[in-house]
Amino acid sequence: EKGTYPHYMLKEMDEQPSVVRKIIQAYSNADGELTIDDNILEALKQADRLYIIAAGTSYHAGLIGKQYFEKIAGIPVEVHISSEFGYNMPLLSEKPLFIFISQSGETADSRQVLVRVKEELGYPALTITNVPGSTLSREADYTLLLHAGPEIAVASTKAYVAQVAVLAVAAYVAGKAAGRELDMDLKQELAIAANAIQTIVDSKNELEQIAEDYLKIARNAFFIGRNLDYYVSMEGALKLKEISYIQAEGFAGGELKHGTIALIEDGTPVFAIVSQEQVALNIRGNVKEVVARGANACIIAMEGLEEEGDRLVIPKVHSLLTPLVSVVPLQLISYYAALHRRCDVDKPRNLAKSVTVE
Ligand code: F6R
Repeated sequence: EKGTYPHYMLKEMDEQPSVVRKIIQAYSNADGELTIDDNILEALKQADRLYIIAAGTSYHAGLIGKQYFEKIAGIPVEVHISSEFGYNMPLLSEKPLFIFISQSGETADSRQVLVRVKEELGYPALTITNVPGSTLSREADYTLLLHAGPEIAVASTKAYVAQVAVLAVAAYVAGKAAGRELDMDLKQELAIAANAIQTIVDSKNELEQIAEDYLKIARNAFFIGRNLDYYVSMEGALKLKEISYIQAEGFAGGELKHGTIALIEDGTPVFAIVSQEQVALNIRGNVKEVVARGANACIIAMEGLEEEGDRLVIPKVHSLLTPLVSVVPLQLISYYAALHRRCDVDKPRNLAKSVTVE
């Protein structure tokens, strides 16, 4: 039930801090240490390469998951869009483990890949889903649950945050089990991220104002970032287009000069995320390039990397966990942009919550 909330989407965004806390709890053992099912850990250990398969927002979470498994656990990963994988299968490694990320667990595009790789080719599969007993969960060998509670709004918000958090937990536990030196306490860092998300969902007035200032009359919008911020840019653009119908594109800052910068006109809104220290100067350089061509740039920077003129400063979290936090202002900005345009936020046109046709 959405209770006093005008929309499920708003309620679900507000739930995000508690979803992260729930995940910490659900994946902690009796000693208070992060853990995952032994069989899943073993499957991750056995694999020489992970193939993450997903669609839409879940695909965007998968891109972040790739970095987690590679950087934290040292396991090579490929990420593929479900609907492409079926007819454009890459050469597979010797011992692949397939990971399906799906909020609903019902996405037909992902299921057709699962049937192919598991039933026809005999490879092991793990599903990361919000819905216990869903088709993808039943048909895979293993399941990791998101513990996000039902997500009703068509635009996925809390499930994305949950996917990123669960991927971090799985990679961390696998990394520890492999005896890797990890210089982070993930449990503590996730708790810090939960608090940071809370700070952002408590800044709704500011985010509504940003939507008003940048998107009121916009026909299109761009989201840029580098490294993890690039993946979050893609998710921010998807959120905006699906609920406000503003044409939006998320891309890597460095790609601007290879074509997209031609689209920048006087007043074009450009949202730039600055949360990755090693590329902060580069992305700020990109912002200067678009501003010089008239763009209306909105810089969202992480505490410690902020500069004068930035529009929003988000609380500092571990550099690998920034997507959990930086996505939240983009969700809220999209929500208010859609609201200002009187769009049906929870049920955008042409979309269904779970896409059960290929
Ligand atoms: C975007 C959105 C979709 C879904 C996609 C996959 O807000 O909700 O892009 O992420 O249809 O759905 P699941 O995760 O249920 O497989």
